[in-house]
Amino acid sequence: MSEAMRLCRIDEIPDGTARGFLIGEGPARLDFFVYRRGEQVFAYRNACPHQGTPLELFPDRFLTSDRQRFLCSTHGALFRTDDGYCVRGPCKGKSLQPFTIMSEAGWLLLPVSESC
Ligand code: FES
Repeated sequence: MSEAMRLCRIDEIPDGTARGFLIGEGPARLDFFVYRRGEQVFAYRNACPHQGTPLELFPDRFLTSDRQRFLCSTHGALFRTDDGYCVRGPCKGKSLQPFTIMSEAGWLLLPVSESC
């Protein structure tokens, strides 16, 4: 297996849901979330492009109730799940910052360079 940290098994994230990760501490802390759709996974930094706050109020609650968009709980911005583009709200036209992860043999992996 390549130089990477195991985050979780892909099947630990139910299809159509997202899971947040906090890795490390202090200025090196990484705050991101992973959304799974079938065999695809999409990862973004957990920072709204409006004011930089985390999207979720409750653990792993990144999606609207119909699971079609990511929701920023602070002011209600909505983002497409496949590219993080904001379609409604105060940061309309901006995007969530993609976050690099890998998958291998059923595991989600964080490249070591991302954790330094
Ligand atoms: S901080 Fe996300 S919409 Fe304002």
